[in-house]
Amino acid sequence: MDIKLYNFKEIGDYRGVLVPIEQLKNIPFEIKRIYYMYDTKKEIVRGKHAHKTLQQILICINGQCKVLLDDGKEKSVVNLDRRNLGLYIGPNTWREMFEFSEEAVLVVLASDYYKEEDYIRDYNKFLESVN
Ligand code: TYD
Repeated sequence: MDIKLYNFKEIGDYRGVLVPIEQLKNIPFEIKRIYYMYDTKKEIVRGKHAHKTLQQILICINGQCKVLLDDGKEKSVVNLDRRNLGLYIGPNTWREMFEFSEEAVLVVLASDYYKEEDYIRDYNKFLESVN
């Protein structure tokens, strides 16, 4: 499965914690877009798509959520429960974000601009494309 967990370095002192992320240094792509989501209720499932080429890193910078990942052959669930934990998701990976906690804020770093034509939103079409 084309996923990877990044434990970003926390630089902390008595003033608090700072986590730097630098494109092509501690993440593997250039960032063209950043978006974030909040006010997502616990019973809501987001995502439910794959991308043809897009690479992304998901970081839950407040609260927590879970991510179901599926490459058409196997599935796994990642708990985004630390503010310095980044989940890299490569192309052709189905993802569903769920069980958002109160006050969860999910930040996504993306390797490209928003392009609807890069999405595969139909699960059966996703399975056809990967198998
Ligand atoms: P959507 O893809 O449904 O969010 P997710 O799958 O991550 O839960 O996106 C919600 C709406 O926002 C949809 O109308 C597309 C739009 N959108 C943008 O305009 N730009 C973006 O960068 C993203 C990710 C979504």
